[in-house]
Amino acid sequence: MLNILVIGSGGREHSIGKKFKESDKVGEVYCAKGNPGMASDGIKLVDIAEDDHEALIAFAKENNIDWAFIGPEIPLMAGIVDDFEAAGLKAFGPHKNAAMIEGSKDFAKNLMNRYNIPTANHQTFTDYKAARAYVEAKGAPIVIKADGLAAGKGVVVAETLDQAVEALKDMLLDHAFGGSGASVVVEDFLDGQEFSLLAFVNGEEVYPMVIAQDHKRAYDGDRGPNTGGMGAYAPVPQIPQEMVDKAVEEIVKPAAAGMKADGNYFRGILYAGLIATKDGAKVIEFNARFGDPETQVVLPRLTSDFALIIDDLLNDRKPVVTFKEDGYTLGVVVAADGYPGSYDKGAKIPDTTKLVDSTAIFAGVANDAEGKLVANGGRVYLVFAEGDTLKEAQEKVYNELNDLKNDGMFYRTDIGAKAF
Ligand code: AMP
Ligand code: GLY
Repeated sequence: MLNILVIGSGGREHSIGKKFKESDKVGEVYCAKGNPGMASDGIKLVDIAEDDHEALIAFAKENNIDWAFIGPEIPLMAGIVDDFEAAGLKAFGPHKNAAMIEGSKDFAKNLMNRYNIPTANHQTFTDYKAARAYVEAKGAPIVIKADGLAAGKGVVVAETLDQAVEALKDMLLDHAFGGSGASVVVEDFLDGQEFSLLAFVNGEEVYPMVIAQDHKRAYDGDRGPNTGGMGAYAPVPQIPQEMVDKAVEEIVKPAAAGMKADGNYFRGILYAGLIATKDGAKVIEFNARFGDPETQVVLPRLTSDFALIIDDLLNDRKPVVTFKEDGYTLGVVVAADGYPGSYDKGAKIPDTTKLVDSTAIFAGVANDAEGKLVANGGRVYLVFAEGDTLKEAQEKVYNELNDLKNDGMFYRTDIGAKAF
């Protein structure tokens, strides 16, 4: 039996832990720090911070953990996989050097250039005047990205030249994103629908997952500020399979092979954020981990054993990776009022045990003094359902979600709409 330690505390990690628990090869699933909403799925919470590698390693040793699964990017960037290995333990996710594919936009762009991976034309700047001249020559719409991790807030899709110049000022003169704003990538605006193509990767070996579409803006109709993601569905019927197959061949495989050739062997989940342009799929970003909320709709569609896949990859065996071919999965995020700006904590989480056709996955929740779940983060929970059609999945989620009391929280009412 495998004993697993999941690192992270959001909805993504709840989904990951829940999927591991489905395997009859799995004993205990621990999650550090996790959240109290996970407990009802049998996941055991471990009160150790995700940046306390030493304490996590000690816990793993004491509890006969076979391997750790790293959910978020921050510990990957901090070298948690390197530290586990140095202590003689296994952890799934890229090493620090390979996590750079997410951690530095410049690193990712460089890789894409050298291996002819389709992406937006771009240039990197550290000098405000030079960046401003380039942006003025290019015109709007144009995209400005802070280099380095900025928790999803480092990207400005400028619709006007004024907005673009403002963003350059923020990032290069005012250092609005701290150290991560020291250089910016300015890139062409790509027109088309977004989709997320995730794959299990071990060096050159690539095992693609079913594609998903996230909804990054806070409000209906893709209005409002960018967020971590307000809902997702999988698969994405309006993206032709041909385009997906081509993206695997021309984007994911060369990226994995290129990382290996460059001495940045990647073992983990490679997430390609793509735009379906009229000239085919092009990359807007790579992530070195599962997406949130994509995971919550992709993993329920996995029909082979998730824990065995990870165990195989960690032991350089070829895993069996299969997904449901019929139907759709759709999930809607419920967020605290004010998110992604400052938001209140403490809103009561409705009784999700009443859900019949849908399932709740928890993220920013805590227990109050009486042991009841209350909101404690920006994205609070997600409700997902499966259906024979996307419409059916969507109706199942909204029918039940609309009946729950979500005071102090909000959600988009149009998740999935771009497919119709
Ligand atoms: P990122 O953090 O790189 O995922 O960017 C956040 C969001 O900005 C993406 O989800 C897209 O909606 C948008 N975006 C980023 N780059 C581009 C681009 N080159 N063209 C159009 N939209 C983009
Ligand atoms: N849902 C977008 C991300 O996880 O980066």
